[in-house]
Amino acid sequence: MKKIPVSTLADGAYFDRPVFLDETYILLAPDAPVMPDLVRRLRKWKYDDVHCDGQTRVVPGYLAVAGAEAAKLAPQTIDEDIRSDEQREAARAFCTDSIAFVAGFFEAFVTEGTINVGKATEWVKQAIATVRDNRDFVMRYAWAESESERWLTLHTMRSTLLALLFGHFLKAPPVRLIELGNACLLHDIGMYKLPETLLRSKAALSTDERKAMGAHTALGYRLLKGFSAAENVALAALEHHERMDGSGYPRGLTGDRITEYARIVAVACSFEAMVSPRPFRPAGFDLHTAIRELLQKQRKQYDDRVLKALVYTLGLYPIGTHVLLSNGGKGATVRTDPARPRCPVVRVLADPSGKRPTKTLLLQSEETGGVSVVRALTPAEVKELGRT
Ligand SMILES: [Fe+2]
Repeated sequence: MKKIPVSTLADGAYFDRPVFLDETYILLAPDAPVMPDLVRRLRKWKYDDVHCDGQTRVVPGYLAVAGAEAAKLAPQTIDEDIRSDEQREAARAFCTDSIAFVAGFFEAFVTEGTINVGKATEWVKQAIATVRDNRDFVMRYAWAESESERWLTLHTMRSTLLALLFGHFLKAPPVRLIELGNACLLHDIGMYKLPETLLRSKAALSTDERKAMGAHTALGYRLLKGFSAAENVALAALEHHERMDGSGYPRGLTGDRITEYARIVAVACSFEAMVSPRPFRPAGFDLHTAIRELLQKQRKQYDDRVLKALVYTLGLYPIGTHVLLSNGGKGATVRTDPARPRCPVVRVLADPSGKRPTKTLLLQSEETGGVSVVRALTPAEVKELGRT
């Protein structure tokens, strides 16, 4: 077998044959991407070379149908690789554990009046690694539970994962990412001091009740200062409902007067609220429509850099979005690419003639020269698709 220096393993490259660590141990299945984490671990284990009989390529075999050819063909048939299965399971377990962690963390705050900063930081570190290595699957499983009774726990977990994704995109250094994660984990802590009846109300809130809810920002700030939290962590609680155009609360701050963590948490928190149910209402938007809504109608309220981070990290058609393809087929997005937010990998659910494929069909959409995503399907079209 050929020796391949670890130093030449390119991030995201694929091999067409298995890659071996030694004579017996398979490191990578064919068409599983080289991930930065793998290269890091190889270096840590002091491996200088790996072994493979095959060739590298920049796209996996099942996507290597180029240009006009791809447009004519039915999408490629593939089985999802072993690595994907492992990533999927890791993401699912992380999300389940995270819900339990966040629920327990605030349970301790409510019953014992304590905040365990060490535990929070430990979880945030895990979250940073998971969203960095496993973005798509984490996004998929973070929304797997839709129980509106637990909305505050779920909101806190999802907002924090989103904020960390944005932080990565904005190239925040590790220490700042941990601080941002802590700030987002704690941004709604003031809510836990509000009457339960308000948090669990199944009826739309009255003006007075909404005003009372709004007090969670100042309450959170005071609580966090009481726990000697860093000023910018406490300010994220105080300012995450401030808006760039001055339309927010509690102080009606504008632009740069709002601290950076608060601006990041604001997008994460608003986006989560748009796509998730509350006890008194169902989810307002699917992920794609929420992104469009934020970009088209609410743009002035949010920091442009953070909105850009939202689009590039989730993609314009986030995981699970049902889409119409330029060849007339329909499907749902299963992978996104931060470098090309318009070009997700789509699981085909109806071929161009409207038939449901008998095998798993995945298609890499292209902006030009292949099958592209035309638009997201309407709710009626999604329902119709379910019947085919
Ligand atoms: Fe809030």
